[in-house]
Amino acid sequence: MAGKDKLIIFDTTLRDGEQSPGVTLNTEEKIEIARQFSRLGVDVLEAGFPVASPGDFNAVQRIAREVGPLMEGREGEGKVNQPMTICGLARSVRKDIQTAYDAVKDAPRHRIHLFLATSDIHLEHKLKISREQCKAQIAEMVAFAKSLCDDIEFSPEDAGRSDRDFLCEALAIAIEAGATTLNIPDTVGYNTPSEYGALIKYLCENTVGAEKAIFSTHCHNDLGLATANTLAGITNGARQVEVTINGIGERAGNTALEEVVMNIHTHPDTYPVYHTINNRLFFPTSRMVSDLSGMAVQANKAIVGRNAFLHESGIHQDGVLKNKTTYEIIRPEDVGVTTGNLALGKHSGRHAFKTKLEELGYGGAALSDAQFQAAFAGFKKLADQKKSGVTDGDMHAIVAEVRSESLASGRPSEQPAPTGTSTELPPDASEAPEVSNQRYTLRTMQVFTGIGIVPTATITLHDSERNQDFTDASLAQNGPIEAVFSAIQRITGLDIDLLNFNVSATSEGQDTLGKVAVRIASAKALREQSETPVEGTLTSYGSVPKFTGLATNVDIITASAKAYISAVNRLVSHNEEDTRASHQDRSVDI
Ligand code: KIV
Ligand code: ZN
Repeated sequence: MAGKDKLIIFDTTLRDGEQSPGVTLNTEEKIEIARQFSRLGVDVLEAGFPVASPGDFNAVQRIAREVGPLMEGREGEGKVNQPMTICGLARSVRKDIQTAYDAVKDAPRHRIHLFLATSDIHLEHKLKISREQCKAQIAEMVAFAKSLCDDIEFSPEDAGRSDRDFLCEALAIAIEAGATTLNIPDTVGYNTPSEYGALIKYLCENTVGAEKAIFSTHCHNDLGLATANTLAGITNGARQVEVTINGIGERAGNTALEEVVMNIHTHPDTYPVYHTINNRLFFPTSRMVSDLSGMAVQANKAIVGRNAFLHESGIHQDGVLKNKTTYEIIRPEDVGVTTGNLALGKHSGRHAFKTKLEELGYGGAALSDAQFQAAFAGFKKLADQKKSGVTDGDMHAIVAEVRSESLASGRPSEQPAPTGTSTELPPDASEAPEVSNQRYTLRTMQVFTGIGIVPTATITLHDSERNQDFTDASLAQNGPIEAVFSAIQRITGLDIDLLNFNVSATSEGQDTLGKVAVRIASAKALREQSETPVEGTLTSYGSVPKFTGLATNVDIITASAKAYISAVNRLVSHNEEDTRASHQDRSVDI
């Protein structure tokens, strides 16, 4: 790109994003998301905070080893043409830095990101150190990090409220000690765009050695200004942006990756930078993050919200039919939203199904062989049930469910990946085995409900650990779904609180699928937490691990049962192997 600088996209969905209240991802889910980010063209991936717990360390290390070397989707003109840099976060203390390095070092490209607060508010009240002590710690810890690794990023936490001249001094020390990227966090989302832009400009112009480092933005969205602030940072000299998919993150979130990239895409003459992100993967990537994290995307969210390309009013519809540019500034297909919606039917074969998946952004290795096989079986089953055909929305839902199922146990699928011609499905594809390496699967369900009767549910689950089917029944005053959940609790012997229950339709029309997302937590853990709340958490269940489950079906009661069982499998697996837990065991939190 003549005359333009490359903008480095640093994604922190798996670190700052994972700090969103309620988000808990298991290691397999983090790896799946990291793979998608690699295909998307992310330059630097902050994979986690390795010192936080053995589970966090393990996840970052596996991402470094398994995703770090990948080149799928990254080669060619306009692409990044190098592997993703895997980064680990550390406080400015030796143990954190060494642990972050140990976690990322096996990635071909790796980085340590260390931070220390510089605002007087943080120095005085949180760290209880003087400015001089702060500078000395930066010098010592950046130098230590540099002795381990070439690629060093330093963040003066709460830079947005720090004294500018002190910041310049602190950053000059970091550069002198070996930092190559200087990240400027507006930690509490306090700055306005003109303030933040001016801050970046001032730091670029007044920090000794600034020409040796790349300045980076890191904006939080407390006042809804994260994207605007990030763009102001770019205009004023930043060449790296720290972002998350769907803008998830602490409190009101971080800057949304897709918003920054599509602003640059839409205004190529406004910003002095180009990017190498494959924006056509935004929609499937957004869905994946939302489905696996359990953080729903608001319908009117820019770029990836359900309504982002819908035109409701007659005048708008008329305009778009005459010429799309009347009311569309972005072509939906540029962000992976398909509007053609040519439905597949029960006679569609594997080839048509695969082509459709590719069109929707699930090409290449986006699905493992086992996941593809299960998705095709799910599609065939659905195509038999739905007269009007399987829509794009249904296809996204099928993929989401297959992924969620296969990752629920936190272990890689134990189903051997079929090879060669054995990937062919049996003649009746609906008989194909489901991708399942989970503790419980639904065998049968009978539900009675109506007006003037007490709803009851009888359920049989297969317990893979005991290799046996178990049946129990329950009644509930509040409806059939409560009865179903209660019967599942009786069989599993678990005491569970339902934190969230969401039903949506995957497409339009009467035979649309119901998509159910649930979030649960152990009732005992919640009780203990509310008796001894963790300081600094906002809710009474602040640090208790939560588990999501997702399922789709033409029948929403079946979808609800399957989603609940999927969440239960996650909970059980977490309890079994608590070293993989990411929140409960955290010995250190930011
Ligand atoms: O918001 C913040 O200050 C951070 C730092 C750890 C970079 O996330
Ligand atoms: Zn942050």
